[in-house]
Amino acid sequence: MNNQSARPHSSAHATPLAAAAAAVAPDATTRDFAQSLHRCLAEQPHQISPKFFYDAAGSALFDQICDLPEYYPTRTEITLLERHAPAMAAQIGAGAELIEFGAGSLTKVRLLLQALLARNLAPARFLPVDISAEHLQAQCLRLRGELPDLQVEPLIVDFTQPLPLPARGNERRVGYFPGSSIGNFTPDEALAFLTRSAGLLRGGGLLIGIDLVKDPALLHAAYNDAQGVTAAFNLNLLHRARRELGCDIEPANFWHHALFNPTRGRIEMHLVSKQRQHIHLEGQRYELAAGETIHTENSYKYTVDGFQALARRAGFVPGTCWLDERRWFCVMWLDAPS
Ligand code: AVI
Repeated sequence: MNNQSARPHSSAHATPLAAAAAAVAPDATTRDFAQSLHRCLAEQPHQISPKFFYDAAGSALFDQICDLPEYYPTRTEITLLERHAPAMAAQIGAGAELIEFGAGSLTKVRLLLQALLARNLAPARFLPVDISAEHLQAQCLRLRGELPDLQVEPLIVDFTQPLPLPARGNERRVGYFPGSSIGNFTPDEALAFLTRSAGLLRGGGLLIGIDLVKDPALLHAAYNDAQGVTAAFNLNLLHRARRELGCDIEPANFWHHALFNPTRGRIEMHLVSKQRQHIHLEGQRYELAAGETIHTENSYKYTVDGFQALARRAGFVPGTCWLDERRWFCVMWLDAPS
């Protein structure tokens, strides 16, 4: 994933939604997208961060992906949460400051929050962090309606950057990073993120979802679904460039292509140019040859041992690991250094 700059909060006590809205000016995100797309089209190989998938349309498509029969990670992780939320809640403990990285639609954290509240382990506050402003704000309104006693403070920033967190008291900080979104980082980026998190969560811990190495046929199906939702999600990046940047890139001139790269242990998603074509962006003209690809996403798959070794290098001490029977997915507890 690439980086994105974020302006810090003006006040830790501002109204949460107002504070969140102030965290990143909408034009900063658009500028970042424009600059990244210029770089992507100018340089070889053509690649762009998957974070640009997640405008409102892309977030809605991602929610549809999570319900697809072929896309096993969401269902498997939810089953693990349904089975083990009490044990995970006990690990988080009472009065924590719970920070969710890449919060999205808050489906999974709801299960954790309910388990915490049911056991008198209410968190001091819940800070969902996500880059997709509209989507997160709508989901937070819903969550507040359901759990009125919970203090919800959304942060609309890029969580791959140092977070502008409100000052805390003595609460223990616990991070929650579900969905195997860590798989969308390169191993170096994953290590950098974990190292930063180990510092941020000092004295607390991190609960993280990891998609595991499995039969490549299952992986292939999960990223090439029969209904074409993943293709639409991938192509939405180009629709977004038209909508947001006035770029004349034509989505119909590209194929969605997702493959498992066994050497790197990752699914790669690409947009393949069907023909030689020219693209105009803010007065610049770019050319793509037939068959050239724009590399839009990597999704790394880990072994439990491999991920625990990475976490140790970042300073965490691995704890309980909750796995499904097929060993397709795991939710792992990592103790942060004290
Ligand atoms: C968000 N992330 C973990 C998803 C994944 O599986 O890598 C994004 C996704 N891309 C295609 N389908 C889902």
